[in-house]
This record gives sequence, C-alpha cells and structure tokens, in this order.
Amino acid sequence: MEHEITLVVNGAARRVRVPARRLLSDCLRHDLGLTGTHVGCEHGVCGCCTVLLDGEPVRSCLTFAVSVDGREITTVEGLAGPGGMSPVQRAFGECHALQCGFCTPGFLCTVTALLRDNPSPTEEEVVEGISGNLCRCTGYQNIVKAVHRAAELIAEEGR
Ligand code: FES
Ligand code: FES
Repeated sequence: MEHEITLVVNGAARRVRVPARRLLSDCLRHDLGLTGTHVGCEHGVCGCCTVLLDGEPVRSCLTFAVSVDGREITTVEGLAGPGGMSPVQRAFGECHALQCGFCTPGFLCTVTALLRDNPSPTEEEVVEGISGNLCRCTGYQNIVKAVHRAAELIAEEGR
C-alpha cells in the first residue's frame, strides 16, 4: 500500500507516493533525485545519510518517509545560499576536510546544526559534536579544523 506525502525539501514542497516502509534516504535519493545524501551502513552507525529535519540532524536511513509527512528537510543540496556555498561548505574546502567526499554531506549537515546551536565550540565540543559521523578515509584533524574555520567565517560574515 502506498501513501501520498508532502515533504518540504530545501524550501520546496514535494509530493511523493511511497510505500509505508520507504526510508527517507531512499525517498530523497530515488524518488526525489537528491543523491547528495549518501548511504553508507544503512543501519544508523556511520552518519553519512544525515539530513536536517526541522533543523535537527537525523539519520535518514533510520527514518520512514511517511513519518515525516509535512516536515521540513534540508539536504546537502540545500545548504548553499543565493550567494554560493555556505561558510561550512567553504571551510571544508579551505581546510581540505574531505578526501573521497563520501561522508562529507553528512558532516556538512551535522556541522551546520552544531554551529547554529553553539557558534563558538571548544575543541572537545567539536569532537563530541561530530562523533556520530564516521569518515573511512580518516583524517579527522582537518575536519575539526574546518569546523573551527567555519565558526570564524560565520562570525566574520554575521551569518
Ligand atoms: S547510512 Fe545512515 S547512518 Fe549509515
Ligand atoms: S572523506 Fe572519504 S569517507 Fe570521509
């Protein structure tokens, strides 16, 4: 049995028919064509599939699409503004905080929410804040650097 739901994705209302067990990650990628949300472990461990649900990071591989009918979802495709890439996106580039990039969309969503809630995190708070996102290429040092750099950019730009 299918259900018709409306998801507000990156500011636009999207109607879609999905089976009750359709995962939000599959709905975003396969039904809506938003393949920026990556799927790694598919059981809630790696954080690659993280998106923002009403502004809060969630694992889209553990979320049924029907359970978020009518809610606002931001994927990595929605992080940039009219002026271009967000400070978090630019900081990841500037600090070389990605290698293969597979984990990056999840990190970007997590860090966007982290810095909104805590604009000036300590080293420990950054490490704690990104602890739910795994990078198989390793290299967390540059990711941590990028979070601090993003905080600087946000402070400078007043965003
Ligand atoms: S794919 Fe969702 S947590 Fe790994
Ligand atoms: S950059 Fe390759 S998994 Fe993180």
